[in-house]
Amino acid sequence: MKVVVIGSGGREHAICWQLARSPRVSEVFACPGNPGMKKIARCWPDCDPIASLDAFIERCKAQQIDHVVIGPEAPLVAGVADRLRSAGIPTFGAGAAAARLEGSKAYSKQFMERHQIPTADHRTIDRIEDLEAALDALPPQVVVKASGLAAGKGVIVCDDRQQARQAATAMLVEDSFGESGRVVVIEERMHGPEVSILAIVDGTDALLLPTAQDHKPLLDGNRGPNTGGMGAFCPGTAIGPSDLDAIRRTIIEPTLEGLVADQIHYSGVLYAGLMMTASGPRVLEYNCRLGDPETQPVLLRLTSDFADILEATADHSPSSASVTWDPRPALCLVLASEGYPAAPRSGQELQGDFYSDLDSPVQVFHAGTRHDGDRCVVSGGRVLGITALGDSLAQARDQAYEKANQIHFEGKIFRQDIGSMPTRSVQDPGAPGSLETTPCSDPY
Ligand code: AMP
Ligand code: GLY
Repeated sequence: MKVVVIGSGGREHAICWQLARSPRVSEVFACPGNPGMKKIARCWPDCDPIASLDAFIERCKAQQIDHVVIGPEAPLVAGVADRLRSAGIPTFGAGAAAARLEGSKAYSKQFMERHQIPTADHRTIDRIEDLEAALDALPPQVVVKASGLAAGKGVIVCDDRQQARQAATAMLVEDSFGESGRVVVIEERMHGPEVSILAIVDGTDALLLPTAQDHKPLLDGNRGPNTGGMGAFCPGTAIGPSDLDAIRRTIIEPTLEGLVADQIHYSGVLYAGLMMTASGPRVLEYNCRLGDPETQPVLLRLTSDFADILEATADHSPSSASVTWDPRPALCLVLASEGYPAAPRSGQELQGDFYSDLDSPVQVFHAGTRHDGDRCVVSGGRVLGITALGDSLAQARDQAYEKANQIHFEGKIFRQDIGSMPTRSVQDPGAPGSLETTPCSDPY
């Protein structure tokens, strides 16, 4: 089986790594890929599946590609999965209609309202003149969100109305988020631990992956601006079995049923970012793709063949894939470049041990790197995701931090507290099976 992975980040490197280990995959391609992926995949750096989709499809046909995996949201929202499927190429990834759940926060809020899925109370505005009425209708502390895609940066958690006014003005008047900020969602600020539920779905059939917890703020102690994610660990420790039951019943099942009711066929990844509030789990956001960096520790624990998941999903039955997980926890520590997320520095040379063997329990997944002649240099905000398995979360953390100290580039920044957040209970609900039958197992 020949598989192309679209994307160039840490999530896509982790997917390529799983596919490279599959006994059934003869060749892995990455489009465009990155220096880390180049060690295990043939990269197509000159091909852009959004701007030149016809050329991409032709190339897939010429290479007799059996499956395409789409990592990031932009090609999903642009409808690349729909076109590939129409061209007869089995594709792992949501179609454009389904991906709107991520591509438009205004739409996803309407969807949740329509299908009674618990989320923060909200107002959507597209004129600054409507701001005060929206703020009057909500509690004093709100979160201001650019409705469109903003690479995890279009969300401003505000302490008071003044901050909310500034954030909404930046989006609606100063145009600081471009097209993505033309429509703004203002919502009640919720409190509680966060958890990411990743499900591979086709229609109402779903395979839930083990939970993961992400660390979004830039600085230790969850301070500083929001980022795409500074680290993650799997299994998450914020929820127990009864929480998971509530999540299935009140969020995942109504979401899938709501999509069917709206006549949207969803095939690919449904990622629900949740907050475990005092009144139960509530949706922060939907994404239509695997989380980054959550995917890195989740996939490090997958001991069965990732290609089986791809095929089962293409056969409309992801829950029929036989899936096994390493019982050990895994943790991903992101090494970022100074200035991230606003204006990351780039061009610095990487030094040290930044490639890993296929079977190493510590994998260095590349995200923002590129070749510059013989050198590997920084090319983006999140540079590497060092991902380690350990007999305990503490051991996984120690391994990742030890490796982080063996890799150098100027302006290297990372959080010191990944995986050491306060926890409530320790359970891993991730297990194969349908929504109806999956037990809360694999506990530790
Ligand atoms: P989102 O991209 O919508 O998931 O938002 C990014 C991050 O902002 C989330 O992971 C939360 O930490 C925070 N956030 C978003 N919405 C809310 C909310 N309504 N209440 C509190 N925090 C929020
Ligand atoms: N880590 C958060 C995300 O992928 O959206």
